[in-house]
Order: sequence, then structure tokens, then C-alpha cells
Amino acid sequence: MIEENISLKKYNTFGIDVMARYFARVASVDDLCAQLEFTPPSTSSQLLPRLILGGGSNLLFTENFDGLVLKNELGGIEKVNEDESYVYIKAGAGVNWHQLVIHCIQNNWAGMENLSLIPGNVGASPMQNIGAYGVEVKDVFFELEAFHLSDKKVVTFNLQECEFGYRESVFKRRLINQFIILNVTYRLNKVPVFNTSYGAIEQELAAMGVTELSIQAISQAVIHIRRSKLPNPVEIGNAGSFFKNPEITAQQFASLKNDFPAIIGYRLGVDKVKLAAGWLIEQCGWKGYRKGDAGCHANQALVLVNYGHASGSEILDLSESIIASVADKFGVALEREVNII
Ligand code: FAD
Ligand code: EPU
Repeated sequence: MIEENISLKKYNTFGIDVMARYFARVASVDDLCAQLEFTPPSTSSQLLPRLILGGGSNLLFTENFDGLVLKNELGGIEKVNEDESYVYIKAGAGVNWHQLVIHCIQNNWAGMENLSLIPGNVGASPMQNIGAYGVEVKDVFFELEAFHLSDKKVVTFNLQECEFGYRESVFKRRLINQFIILNVTYRLNKVPVFNTSYGAIEQELAAMGVTELSIQAISQAVIHIRRSKLPNPVEIGNAGSFFKNPEITAQQFASLKNDFPAIIGYRLGVDKVKLAAGWLIEQCGWKGYRKGDAGCHANQALVLVNYGHASGSEILDLSESIIASVADKFGVALEREVNII
């Protein structure tokens, strides 16, 4: 069923109040094909802009959406295969990510525990190769099925074909707006390989008094850290990190370190360093800044927030000012992680 003139406020974690001209939920491929045929009476053959919506936790709406929003609600979690070392778990794009993580942890299938409590749905997890606490989705990814919007065919993508990078995939670049992800199959370990390389996890496990590592304990530690740092979108509108952590050359880093000895950077291979964007933004004085209802979070400068009634444009303007001041002070270009619609 197609609904008309629907507020999207409850469908995006920033809580931005914009309208969708048309809105439909899709719970099967047949549903999807039927909705894609939809053309509003007055526009005849004109192709309507479409937006695929998951949990709305990585989007910033800056205006009303004058097209068709398709809320992906394809469900289901099933074990599709297993061998001596791995289980293969297929989940529908509309499954809530954290519920899938919990399901895997309860079954002692290991690999997703560091990715506990990331908002959003399965379908978006490969879009930007979600990551946290030393693990990215690519580390547990096996394959996905996606629907090609013009060919109207289902195509399977393996790990290489997704071209995963840091908060990147082929679906954000070369094949942008061409596919709807229908389901994802993850490959999980029967025998866990614990990843506590992220310092805060070790500290939290110690504070919890954990002496024997388990995927359950790591998940709990990650949940505690996240709750202490990141604003809960139910209380304060946000979409997590608004910007990516910028990657620069080792030479650029050495020069910045000379001028700013406290700068935070993580070595990536021989010649690349990833900078902590939160630190750069904090040093420019933005942490805790608020203008109207748009702000920069007081505990995590990388997270922009909506205290209630900010518009998407106000948040976007704030992000532009932050980008300009970081470029001015450090000569570093910040790139937005959140999708601007
Ligand atoms: P949406 O916001 O609905 O969509 C995101 C993009 O993907 C849009 O362009 C949309 O059109 C597209 N899309 C969605 N579903 C499909 C589909 N089935 N097929 C094709 N395109 C699709 N991210 C991290 O990586 N790590 C974190 O630690 C993290 N922490 C967060 C903390 C908070 C408090 C919040 C609010 C967000 C955080 N995020 C994090 C960002 C966000 O949770 C992820 O990007 C998540 O994967 C978005 O999922 P979603 O279903 O909400 O996607
Ligand atoms: N920092 C500051 N000031 C701040 C914020 C951070 O100095 O205001 C410093 C911290 O002290 C720390 C460093 O920056 O030394 C890194 O901070 P943190 O561990 O909080 O992680 P982050 O780099 O800010 C990234 C991801 C998060 C992910 C966490 C944990 C990106 C863009 N963000 O944040 O992902 O949860 O690491 O792995 O890579 C997201 O993508 O939405 C997201 C929340």
C-alpha cells in the first residue's frame, strides 16, 4: 500500500521532520517489484525519485522527499550452511542489526560481538561496511543478494565484488542508487577469535572483573563503552559519527605532530595515518557547541546532534562550519559519513 504525505520524523534517528510524498513498506521481492511499478497519476512516465530506507540511522534529511520512500522490511534469519569451522547465517535486509548480533551471540557464533549495539538494519550494514572496536562487517561478510532496479534481476555479490573499504563499498560509489540489498549472508566462527585490540575494551573488561574472555563478555564491554560515549538517539537526535576519520600520509602526520604534539593518529600500513576527527573538531572549539537545536555533542565531538527541532539544513550548515575550521587550523579535509538527502 502506498501512503501519501507521510512525516519521516520517526523514521530517521536525527528526528528531522520532513515529509515523504509517497511511502511504502516492502516485505518481499514481489512487494518490491509491485511498488517499483508505481507511477503517480499526474507524472505519467516520469521516473519518481526513490529512497531505500532502513533504520534511518545514517541519514540527514535536508528537505521534503518528493518521491517514493521504500521502507525495507524484508525479514528472516536462517542458518543456510555450515562446515567444520564456520556457520553461514542469512538475514533479511529489514532485520535489526543488533537483534542479529544478539541472536548470533546466543548461539555462540562468533565474529559480530564487537559490532554490538550499532543502530540500523542488516541491509545497510554492507553499504558503508559498518565498523567499531577493531572489527568491520567485511570481516564476517560472505555474500549478499541485491535487486537491480533497472534490470529487475537479483544479483549475488561476494566479498571482493563489494569492494569494501573504510566506511565504503561499491554500493556507495560505482553502483550508487542501482541496487536494493535484499539479504546478507555472514560467515561466523564456531571457535571464537577474540579481538580486544581496541584499548578501551581491555579496560572495560578489567573494570567488569572478567577473567575468562567470551563473546558475551566482549559484547557487554562494547555495549557499556558505547552507552557511556554515544548519545542515545531516542533521547537526542543523531546519526553517530557525522564525519569519517581522515586518512593522511605519514609525512603529513609528522608535520602536523610537529605543530600539534598531542594530535591523535593511528598508523595504517607504511605510509598512511588515520586521524581522530573528534580530536581535531574538539581542538577547534566545537565540542558542546549549540546554536538553536543543532549542536556538537559534549562527550563526542564527532557526533552532531538535534536537541529537538533543528532542521536538516541547520545541521548541515553546522557541519560546513566545522569542515571549514578544521581545514583552516589543520589543513585537513573532513569528509561526511552521513548520507545527505
Ligand atoms: P539508513 O540510514 O536507513 O540508510 C543508510 C544508507 O543506506 C542510505 O543511503 C540508504 O538509502 C541506504 N540503504 C539502506 N538500506 C538499504 C538497502 N537494503 N539497499 C540499498 N540501500 C540501502 N556506524 C558504524 O559503522 N559504526 C558505528 O559504531 C556506528 N555507531 C552509530 C551510533 C549511533 C548512535 C548512530 C545513530 C549511528 C551509528 N552508526 C554507526 C551509523 C549507522 O548505524 C550505520 O550506518 C547503519 O548501518 C545504518 O543503517 P540503517 O538501516 O539505519 O540505514
Ligand atoms: N576524541 C577526542 N575528542 C572527542 C572525541 C574523540 O579527543 O570529542 C579522541 C578520543 O579520545 C580517542 C579518539 O579520538 O582518542 C577516538 O575516539 P573514539 O574511540 O570515540 O572513536 P572515534 O574515532 O571517534 C570511531 C568510529 C565510530 C566507532 C568508534 C569505535 C568513525 C568515523 N567513527 O569513532 O563509529 O563506533 O570509532 O570503534 O570511524 C559511526 O561510524 O557512526 C561510529 C560511531
